[in-house]
Amino acid sequence: MVKIAPSILSADFMNLEQDLQRAVLGGADILHLDVMDGHFVPNLTFGYPLIRQLRKCFSIPLDAHLMITNPEEYIDILADIGVDYISIHQETVLHLHRYIQKIKEYGIKAGIALNPATPVETIFPLINDLDFVLIMSVNPGFGGQKFLPLAQDKIRALRRKAQEKNVSLQIEVDGGVTRDNARQLVQAGADILVAGSYIFHSTDYAESINNLR
Ligand code: DX5
Ligand code: ZN
Repeated sequence: MVKIAPSILSADFMNLEQDLQRAVLGGADILHLDVMDGHFVPNLTFGYPLIRQLRKCFSIPLDAHLMITNPEEYIDILADIGVDYISIHQETVLHLHRYIQKIKEYGIKAGIALNPATPVETIFPLINDLDFVLIMSVNPGFGGQKFLPLAQDKIRALRRKAQEKNVSLQIEVDGGVTRDNARQLVQAGADILVAGSYIFHSTDYAESINNLR
């Protein structure tokens, strides 16, 4: 069954605990954490002190999406905090295989994230080593952007390759996900739908999560 991962970027930072509690009670499967450094992407969000606090408050899986230039430098600290998923961007890291192995050695699900312009074929050689792939369906950096339909073909190609190689890869799609495209994305092969503004800018989070599901 598809998993719904609210992106906390669009939550109310002044009332974060209560706001995220509503999403969790509303049926969220995973909390998606957009870590940005103002360098890899033109925005700054939050870092490890906040993630540590979130870990203390919430027992559902935490998914760290690292939109930062040197993600490999932060694997140890995220492991110490106890996150469940880490994705690093293909565009930032020269030695992807090395760091994917490192993440997995900690028992954390290891993923590679791909910008819209990065061909999905670039990660085919690593497909056996990955737990998941995050397909960006907007340019990374901001919530509330319009969905880019090119993501759908990438998901389809990746699902086909995973089936061909008989690997149980999870595909996560992130950016502009709403009830209007959720069905097509799952049919294309997505397992995890990330949604920020669609959930947190609605009045009833449970209903929005159900709509996506
Ligand atoms: C963008 C982030 C997304 C974003 C999704 O860089 O990776 O997770 O918060 O937000 P929506 O669902 O509003 O596009
Ligand atoms: Zn994200």
